[in-house]
Amino acid sequence: MKKKSSYILAIESSCDDTAAAVLKNNEVLSNCIANQEIHRDYGGVVPELASRAHQVNIVPVVQQALSIANIDKNQLTAIAYTRGPGLVGSLLVGSSFAKSLSLSIDIPLIEVNHMQGHILCHFIKNEKKTPPRFPFLGVTISGGHTQLILVEDYFKMTEIGTTLDDAIGEAFDKCGKKMGLDYPAGPEIDKLARNGNPEAFKFALPKVKNFDVSYSGVKTAFLNLISKNINKNPNFIKDNLCDLCASIQKTLVEIIINKIEKAKNSLKINRIVIGGGVAANSEIRRVLNNMSVSSDWEVFIPPFQYTTDNAAMIGIAAYYKLKKNQLGQMNQSVNARLII
Ligand code: KG4
Ligand code: ZN
Repeated sequence: MKKKSSYILAIESSCDDTAAAVLKNNEVLSNCIANQEIHRDYGGVVPELASRAHQVNIVPVVQQALSIANIDKNQLTAIAYTRGPGLVGSLLVGSSFAKSLSLSIDIPLIEVNHMQGHILCHFIKNEKKTPPRFPFLGVTISGGHTQLILVEDYFKMTEIGTTLDDAIGEAFDKCGKKMGLDYPAGPEIDKLARNGNPEAFKFALPKVKNFDVSYSGVKTAFLNLISKNINKNPNFIKDNLCDLCASIQKTLVEIIINKIEKAKNSLKINRIVIGGGVAANSEIRRVLNNMSVSSDWEVFIPPFQYTTDNAAMIGIAAYYKLKKNQLGQMNQSVNARLII
């Protein structure tokens, strides 16, 4: 007998994007996001404003996701939400919505770890690429995290390295802010860097033990470089914008690539699976693609729509949890510091 399909509605509200997706088994039927433009005016995410915007956006985004998927809520098999890590007020909006829907239409609730979602997005049905085989080396590079993870199974993930200070995306955003770019600055730096010389400005790479990384030293060196030069030439940023972007981007990418290489050699695992907003960066994609051509690296880079925060990645993680009957509980609270 043919197995019944499962339809999962997934909600992601861990930071400043309100997202909802509908999956039929491992296939994405809809993947909707309401970005919160309000934070641009402040140069970073303001938690209080983020929670309020989630409250405004969540019902329309869910309705849009159901409508695009052409699914009525009564056809849903389960509802999934991000339990953490993230901003507590933001997480509470998604979790309260998911719990209410679960109760009102009597379907199971599934809790998902946001960082596991960033890794598991590679298991979304994709005609062009088969998912990675276990074990592999997971690398999450986002605004809040920079982690190297040994992934032995869908939910058997062990962090083997992390940042000692800033996350890589945070470093992109803070360097961009100093250059007067809007938040989040990562995508803008990426664009401007295409017309710049990555060798124009040199930054010393940090010396950090094991598989950990550090970004605050390079970030501070970049901020100091600008402050020092702007005293001599008020147009320093404008005159050198593309070179500054290309140089800092090259350095930020090199730091994580060096650690991936170290972990790969030490663990003897050549499958590298990246996830998170910075996985959209063209320099890291270029370097990783080169590695897969010139050496034995087997590299998995997510399609763009699954790099920055999205609900499809929460839905695919929930699909594998549902298969294992790992259901959530009504009395479970969100966890801003949930570990992978
Ligand atoms: O995963 P994500 O959407 O949210 C977090 O969980 O943090 O990642 C957002 C981060 C921001 O720091 C943003 O600047 C960065 O991803 N980002 C990029 C690019 N696209 C997004 N950084 C560099 N290059 C990009 N193309
Ligand atoms: Zn994220």
